[in-house]
Amino acid sequence: MYRIRTWTLTVALGVGLFTLTPAVSAAPDKPKYSIEEVMKALHKGDDAVGKRVTKGQGTKEDYKKMLEYYPSLGLNKPDKGDAASWTAKTTALLNAAKALDKSEPGALETYKKAVNCKACHKEHKEDK
Ligand code: HEC
Repeated sequence: MYRIRTWTLTVALGVGLFTLTPAVSAAPDKPKYSIEEVMKALHKGDDAVGKRVTKGQGTKEDYKKMLEYYPSLGLNKPDKGDAASWTAKTTALLNAAKALDKSEPGALETYKKAVNCKACHKEHKEDK
């Protein structure tokens, strides 16, 4: 129950924030990093930041790195899948990273759900 509500809230908040953004910033933001760069910086490899954080071993530096890279993810367009799904997933990741950085309760659980490699790759990663 609680977990589902947190999740719904995170997505709702995320989508809400995203919708607001264009009104606030005049020019659309360009992503600083490509999807590939974000994956390499945070997800790839056994000692990846994402893996460490998921195990509850994240450090303040890890969270800062997440906040450096995750904002770019949603600004990119994936080769595959629909935009609403991409926005929801990438916003959930970014919000989870922000929550982790602020040591909010439940942040780790939220991040674990948001960083679901398979779920996202299945929908948005082109098979090569
Ligand atoms: C929010 C969606 C999303 C999540 C979550 C996600 N990925 Fe990805 N990932 C992508 C997309 C999209 C690509 C394809 C990028 C491209 O080819 O342009 C990708 C590509 C990759 C690549 C290939 C990058 C390269 O070197 O070319 C690796 C490795 C990778 N992801 C690892 C992971 C791992 C490990 C996780 C889980 C810890 C993960 N990803 C979670 C969306 C996601």
